[in-house]
Amino acid sequence: MPTAPAVIAAGLKGGAASPKTVLVTGASRGLGRALVLELAKRGHVVIVCLRSAEKVKSLESELMAFTPNASSSSAAPPFKHFVADLDVRSDSSVKELAKLVVESGRVPDIIVNNAGTINKNNKFWQVPAEEFDMVIDTNVKGIANIMRHFLPLMIEKKHGIIVNISSGWGRSAAAEVAPYCASKWAVEGLTKSVAKELPPGLAVVALSPGVINTDMLTSCFGSSAALYQTPENWAPNAAQMILNFTVEDNGASLTV
Ligand SMILES: NC(=O)c1ccc[n+]([C@@H]2O[C@H](COP(=O)([O-])OP(=O)(O)OC[C@H]3O[C@@H](n4cnc5c(N)ncnc54)[C@H](OP(=O)(O)O)[C@@H]3O)[C@@H](O)[C@H]2O)c1
Repeated sequence: MPTAPAVIAAGLKGGAASPKTVLVTGASRGLGRALVLELAKRGHVVIVCLRSAEKVKSLESELMAFTPNASSSSAAPPFKHFVADLDVRSDSSVKELAKLVVESGRVPDIIVNNAGTINKNNKFWQVPAEEFDMVIDTNVKGIANIMRHFLPLMIEKKHGIIVNISSGWGRSAAAEVAPYCASKWAVEGLTKSVAKELPPGLAVVALSPGVINTDMLTSCFGSSAALYQTPENWAPNAAQMILNFTVEDNGASLTV
């Protein structure tokens, strides 16, 4: 069973004039990792969720590199990044994280539901049931868990944007990735339906990131994945787009 989230706080100082607090799931590698580093570099506060304890330290070090000198005499108020050990499949762990975030006074302005997984390329009937469950539990129920526990906090604040990372395969179909396609079509449907329930001040958006050279792309494209842009090249555009979302985007299906 996934463990309860342990929040490892890195105390930091300085930052942009009006930094946003952005929670990103699945930030151990790939798009999530590149996105949190880009957001931190721009002076925003990140709540980083990953499920690899070993990667917590290295990510903390990298976040520190984008932080003004902690010993500076600057009068800027201190702020904190959180690096939380979280498996999005665990509803109880997400609930615990939401509690910790409230206690720290850091209800996110933006949540990016990025954590995701894909089945090994295979005909649908050759995908083991456990693998199908893993894809649905992560890509669909993981997002549901986060929205279940964080939307009430945002509703209370009358403010917040949730970005559900979808895929081109949430709007089209391909052979050998049926579980993944099914999960991303579900992300699109979940997003559009929840959008109709939100009160003023909030928005939920489905965002296809494009095609980027990550472990996931290598899994489905093989060596051709290397022909595509790196997460580091992708992150500035993605961060800009995500930071610019407004309530006008509620229910939209967009692409970086
Ligand atoms: N790359 C593309 O071209 C592309 C295209 C369309 C959509 N997307 C979507 O973009 C998102 C990021 O994909 P990526 O390409 O960066 O994939 P990736 O390199 O495989 O990274 C996936 C990330 O999700 C995390 N994760 C997986 N299961 C998790 C769980 N149960 N709880 C918490 N974290 C979990 C992984 O953590 P671990 O290290 O612990 O496994 C990793 O950090 C996904 O939603 C994917 O579907 C990507």
